[in-house]
Amino acid sequence: MENITDFLGNVPWWLWIVTFILLVAIRDVFLQRSHTINHNFPVVGHLRYWLESIGPEMRQYFVANNREELPFNRIERGWIYASAKKENNYEGFGTDRDIYAHQHIFVKNAMIGYQVSEGHPNFEDPYFLACAKVIGAYNKRKKPFRPASVINVSAMSFGSLSAAAVEAMNKGVAKAGAYHNTGEGGLSPYHKKGGDVVFHFGTGYFGVRSKDGNFSIEKMKILVDENPCIKAIEIKLSQGAKPGKGGVLPGSKISREIAEIRGVEIGKDVLSPATHKAFDSIPELLQLIERIADETGLPVGIKAAIGKLDQWDELTDLMKKTGKGPDFITIDGGEGGTGAAPPSFADHVSLPWVYGFATIYKLFQDKGLCGRVVFIGSGKLGFPAKAAMAFAMGVDCINVAREAMMSIGCIQAQVCHTNRCPAGVATQSKWLQAGIDVSLKSNRLAQYFKTFQKEFLEVTHAAGYQHPCQFTMNDIQVNVDDDYLSSDLKTVYGYEKTPVAFESMKELHDCIYLGGKPN
Ligand SMILES: Cc1cc2nc3c(=O)[nH]c(=O)nc-3n(C[C@H](O)[C@H](O)[C@H](O)COP(=O)(O)O)c2cc1C
Repeated sequence: MENITDFLGNVPWWLWIVTFILLVAIRDVFLQRSHTINHNFPVVGHLRYWLESIGPEMRQYFVANNREELPFNRIERGWIYASAKKENNYEGFGTDRDIYAHQHIFVKNAMIGYQVSEGHPNFEDPYFLACAKVIGAYNKRKKPFRPASVINVSAMSFGSLSAAAVEAMNKGVAKAGAYHNTGEGGLSPYHKKGGDVVFHFGTGYFGVRSKDGNFSIEKMKILVDENPCIKAIEIKLSQGAKPGKGGVLPGSKISREIAEIRGVEIGKDVLSPATHKAFDSIPELLQLIERIADETGLPVGIKAAIGKLDQWDELTDLMKKTGKGPDFITIDGGEGGTGAAPPSFADHVSLPWVYGFATIYKLFQDKGLCGRVVFIGSGKLGFPAKAAMAFAMGVDCINVAREAMMSIGCIQAQVCHTNRCPAGVATQSKWLQAGIDVSLKSNRLAQYFKTFQKEFLEVTHAAGYQHPCQFTMNDIQVNVDDDYLSSDLKTVYGYEKTPVAFESMKELHDCIYLGGKPN
């Protein structure tokens, strides 16, 4: 034994390296068949895979220019990071954008802007920006709800996000008065940290699922009774990144905790079918909405990405005829994010937000239904100027998913589908999520929301209004062609927004249905 240790101790360091390289070369040439490059270029071939794996980060840090990257460019990400940290989020020397570029947005400022005088809610609190409509008011639900913030966390499940990320978001929305949409994975303990919650379910019915994988109204009732933080319920029909795409949650990922939260069996594969079992026609969808609203007393809405219009036509006809319908509608854009989706879906199925929303809003307007519904928009809208455009087109609130992720540290590594998120946000790895300081990150999310509200209000005041619900299609211009290049939204999309019944900020502030209060 001593002889062996002596011998090994006497081997020079360079011989260890040569032996290691030789072993790698033998493996590459003789023992593996899966990588041609490694076989044909032993040892050095590995460099290719390594460089490819760090390519996105290298491009992001060194190569891409400020406005080049997608989904979010460096300036957009930088604005969110600085806003979340309450750092200087200004730009020096003027814009670096080509303001003559196609689709560039302009907000028309007033000659003399809106002045916030003493006694106005925003004089005391420059961050107060509640939704101008009450969700569930038209349908006289037992528990109507006015979101205390116009920016809120969009559907993202515990499962696609880490426990630490969900908890940070929930504590963050509680501080900002916003709501937190659970996403499809059920209501987890991490969603119950003080924030208002919108409970969301899709075809897997996680958290409200019967033994045979169908929707259970009994479970829904119990869930709502036991959790007063739930303020509204959202039925997911589709999302922009993968409309009509089902999925499988592999048994290997179903821990005891996930099984309990989702109401499924430990270790067994679970299918989220492409379509719902609880309804397969528009009248049945309407019946389900009414049933859930009656049994729980909560407002009920739907979320969808937009493509064909025939079933929306049927829905609006039925709403008109019966006087019933969803309390809110979330329209997601084709540019929306996801934990994982095939590129064929993410890149091509469903319309971008502006086209999808404009089409649906016009349909509702033609049938006189806009005043009955709270419209929520999602699809890269978490920036004040983009939000101004969305409000001018008719939304009442926006939901943000990836912007919220970035506010708590996501670096847009785009590896949510691999469980290897380096920021600990979209992973179940205990090690990676241990890097998240929940209390600090919750402050960051809250601060991003507050900075957004403040800047959005400032843009609104510059346009001469008190609340962004007052924006009209004439207030925003967008570059559309090379002629006179820029046109107002009314000309581009062919409608004018139905005015929102807004009295004053004070009325919103004093509303008995205002959310954002401790439960
Ligand atoms: C990690 C992740 C998980 C998501 N999970 C869901 C989900 O469970 N249900 C859903 O309807 N949308 C889901 N989405 C879509 C978002 O809720 C949102 O509609 C979309 O990303 C657009 O918003 P954004 O541009 O602000 O990210 C998810 C998005 C991400 C990034």
